[in-house]
Amino acid sequence: MAEVAKLLLISGSLRGGSTNSATLRTAAALAPAGVETEIYDGMGRLPHFNPDDDPTDGVGLDPEVAALRSALAATDGLLLSTPEYAGALPGSFKNLLDWTVGGGQTYEMPVAWINVSGQAAPSGGADAHESLRKVLGYTGSRIVEEAVLRLPLSRDDVGEDGLVTPPEARAKIVEAVSVLATASSRL
Ligand SMILES: Cc1cc2nc3c(=O)[nH]c(=O)nc-3n(C[C@H](O)[C@H](O)[C@H](O)COP(=O)(O)O)c2cc1C
Repeated sequence: MAEVAKLLLISGSLRGGSTNSATLRTAAALAPAGVETEIYDGMGRLPHFNPDDDPTDGVGLDPEVAALRSALAATDGLLLSTPEYAGALPGSFKNLLDWTVGGGQTYEMPVAWINVSGQAAPSGGADAHESLRKVLGYTGSRIVEEAVLRLPLSRDDVGEDGLVTPPEARAKIVEAVSVLATASSRL
């Protein structure tokens, strides 16, 4: 049987013209054979995390949280791409990550990210990604370092089709997908 890896792609940006979301769309569009991708698009619909709303028996769990956890449970690996806001992870993305703690689906899950923060950004997104690494440590995820990518992009690097246009950037995205998929693959 051919090896197949399923990757869930989650953007930390809700912005319509997001370069982070464009990067993940590009990853999905150019994913090599044997790699199945799904773009998660429910971040903006998640409720604010409240431990009181996360019962251990799961009864009464918000359907959007349940959908997120189902998507995580169905994937072999996770590819993230997030901006930095005010020296930290975007609040809505941290909210999503907080919901993953109780679910446990990301425990030992292969995870990587692509940091596309532009060169002009104050810290190049470094603080957000340091924080992301720390959060993923708390959830027990397995960071696939070889697939973690720093790829500065500008808004001009996204074409009218919503995909990243520079060929070298596209090649690096495909390489990251390929490496993460190999680390996530199952027979
Ligand atoms: C409110 C706000 C705060 C930001 N703060 C930072 C920051 O602290 N560090 C940084 O590197 N970039 C910062 N940026 C720049 C964004 O991270 C950058 O524009 C990013 O590429 C936006 O991602 P998107 O295109 O996916 O929306 C900030 C942008 C906004 C809108």
